[in-house]
Amino acid sequence: MGDTAKLDLGGKTVELPVLHGTLGPDVVDVRKLYAETDVFTYDPGFTSTASCESKITYIDGDAGVLLHRGYPIDELAENSNFLETCYLLLHGELPKGPEAADFEHTITYHTMLHEQFDRFVQGFRRDAHPMAIMVGAVGALSAFYHDSTNVDDPSQRMISSHRLIAKMPTIAARAFKYSQGQPFVHPRNDLSYAENFLRMCFSVPAEDWKPNPVLTRAMDRIFILHADHEQNASTSTVRLAGSSGANPFACIAAGIACLWGPAHGGANEEALNMLKEIGTVDRIPEYVQGVKDRRYRLMGFGHRVYKNYDPRAKVMQKTCHEVLAEVGNADDPLLKVAMELERIALSDEYFVERKLYPNVDFYSGITLRALGFPAEMFTVLFAVARTVGWIAQWKEMIEDPSQKIGRPRQIYTGEPQRAFTPVHKRG
Ligand code: CMC
Repeated sequence: MGDTAKLDLGGKTVELPVLHGTLGPDVVDVRKLYAETDVFTYDPGFTSTASCESKITYIDGDAGVLLHRGYPIDELAENSNFLETCYLLLHGELPKGPEAADFEHTITYHTMLHEQFDRFVQGFRRDAHPMAIMVGAVGALSAFYHDSTNVDDPSQRMISSHRLIAKMPTIAARAFKYSQGQPFVHPRNDLSYAENFLRMCFSVPAEDWKPNPVLTRAMDRIFILHADHEQNASTSTVRLAGSSGANPFACIAAGIACLWGPAHGGANEEALNMLKEIGTVDRIPEYVQGVKDRRYRLMGFGHRVYKNYDPRAKVMQKTCHEVLAEVGNADDPLLKVAMELERIALSDEYFVERKLYPNVDFYSGITLRALGFPAEMFTVLFAVARTVGWIAQWKEMIEDPSQKIGRPRQIYTGEPQRAFTPVHKRG
């Protein structure tokens, strides 16, 4: 492809610039198309549309590659930690010298919530889904932290970013404790991000709580694996909400709402439910037949972008084995079902033809269950991890001089203009 693309429309030829990223396919710039031709493009689901320019995350779905600021996800999961990954996503480089300790101090400084916030959380019904609490409670942060809602002030943008990364585990742990009828546990700033979160979820005042390094490392790695994924549905929601100038707490609440859906972050809960429903290895063929008959989908399989093995799923599978061995459940029947299902699906023509591979959610449900979380908490954990991606993408958008309010167009297929009919004349 050259530097322009030609489009013939009703005898008129328009030249559209072709843009080149550092990696990935070229992009036809259609921004002037409507002004020059009176024609829109049509792309529901954005399967062929780049909605923004970004320097944060790159995915090559055919090759199964995921890079954050150029670093492969498996190298980050193996060698980095979640807070360092947060710094990388927010600032563009891995922290050097004292930057890592300074960043950790800044985040831990913001882990507590306003005391009145707990009363707000306690206003929810006990049986509320923890994601319902997350959508409401994170949106409510803007009612508690007015001093960091001015999106035009760079220092307020940074403080709200730090606050969100720091407070999400505290809010998520409260959503969990509330559903369990147990007292809220305050954060401890001498612990690591993952350790502090596990303690806020699983410690009770009546007993000592001892961190388990294998489980802490697994939690940290799960956070890294979910930290960002370029312009997925929830991130695009955050960008779209933010494009109007809405405050970051409200934008992240919008992202959480989008994440909740079963086709997105809700898939890990659905994947575990599916494995439970299958129950035993001998029932897999019957279940797979139901997928082929299009009665339901194989949850934790397939991806809009990956048409190869999701690189996060490989790390997740390894983490899953480590956690199950640590908690003494290496013979978990659901793990056996998952492994056999994966084996069958990877060799079955139906899945091979459609390039359906396991995604990150396929093994994360079993792992999170082994860590002690109920299924309703799975998407909440995804939201905790993805907050840094959302906020980094939100900041990038606000700081992009070409940023405009997001406002897609449509093909209108409804009634043409017609005259109003008074009620006594309607047949
Ligand atoms: N099981 C069975 N068939 C499937 C599946 C699946 N999980 N996913 C896609 N297909 C089939 C689909 O029926 C279609 O077949 P055909 O061409 O014969 O009509 C073909 O594959 C293409 O499907 P699509 O719906 O056009 O693909 P999409 O890119 O719009 O969907 C997806 C992506 C993730 C929504 C879909 O694969 C899906 O529903 N997967 C299950 C839910 C899931 O695991 N989601 C988590 C995604 S990873 C974490 C995240 O990003 O949140």
